[in-house]
Amino acid sequence: MVTNNKNEDEVKYAIECKNLTKKFGNFTAVNSSDLKIKKGELFGFLGPNGAGKTTTIKILTTLLSPTFGEAKVAGFDIKTGAASVRARIGVVPQEFALFGELTPMENLWYIGELFGMKKDGLKKRSEELLKKVELFDKKDIAAEGFSGGMKQRLSVAAGLLHTPEILFMDEPTTGLDPQSRIALRELTKSLNDSGITVVYTTHDMDEADKLCQRIAIMDAGKIKAEGTPKELKEKYGGGQKIELRLSRYDARLLEELKKISGAKSVLNKNGIIELKIDAPKTGILHKLSRFLAEKGIEVDEIRLIESSLEDVFINLTKKEVKNT
Ligand SMILES: Nc1ncnc2c1ncn2[C@@H]1O[C@H](COP(=O)(O)OP(=O)(O)OP(=O)(O)O)[C@@H](O)[C@H]1O
Ligand SMILES: [Mg+2]
Repeated sequence: MVTNNKNEDEVKYAIECKNLTKKFGNFTAVNSSDLKIKKGELFGFLGPNGAGKTTTIKILTTLLSPTFGEAKVAGFDIKTGAASVRARIGVVPQEFALFGELTPMENLWYIGELFGMKKDGLKKRSEELLKKVELFDKKDIAAEGFSGGMKQRLSVAAGLLHTPEILFMDEPTTGLDPQSRIALRELTKSLNDSGITVVYTTHDMDEADKLCQRIAIMDAGKIKAEGTPKELKEKYGGGQKIELRLSRYDARLLEELKKISGAKSVLNKNGIIELKIDAPKTGILHKLSRFLAEKGIEVDEIRLIESSLEDVFINLTKKEVKNT
């Protein structure tokens, strides 16, 4: 049977990039990015300062044109279909410029007018969105006294004004206090649950791990790896660690533990025995506990430590770090 892959792809993907590259003079800020983001996904760009996250977002939201390569957003080419792309996306920029002297309602009104939204629909939509971002009770107060979290939530409301299919959020939680960060993550999650594809940038590895369904790890303009947090940790995290504190042990016992667990190394760190395991193994703690019990050795502590996205990032960028 002949299938039309192009049509299937258009239905399936919110964003497709091929060899996307941005140069500023001789400097390459985004280097040959190939990426597909599925419709309905909460997708994260994770990378340190200067990785190229904002530049990527600016290209995909048609604010910058790429030096080479192609991208489709919501099924439209960013170069030939820029207006159609803009009609289907919302942006929460890294630096949101709200008008401090205006109230949330007035800010949304102003942005809505820029989009050419009709007046009656705009009031209803603004009220609905201010309820969603929990600013309805502040709707008629000038925004200049708002906290960082409140300003950021107003920025989200502005990004949602014309009911986008895809929402780009560029480091929305950077600089916020822990409670505001949690509130913004929950808001992001609920927007995604309601069907909006979310493209989210952050340099907070833990945040990306908790929030995003799939992640692209960016460093120095390059996408180093892409996958679900679980896949990335399994592939690049360097495995798991087991930490043990025992009533007694000797070199022979350590060798036996190594053999039983299939560890690639055993270290004694001031009485805590660390076994490094290549890949996740089910039932490993139980197996070790049973073995030690049979030997009459008491286990004071036994812990399985999964690898983190930080381990993934360090492993993926090790070469570069060493060379600098
Ligand atoms: N207009 C520009 N002209 C020259 N260089 C630029 C320009 N915009 C960005 N760059 C450079 O491109 C690189 C990537 O910048 P970008 O803003 O995309 O990084 P980022 O991942 O968003 O970082 P951050 O976490 O700090 O926001 C940086 O080295 C930056 O200095
Ligand atoms: Mg940025």
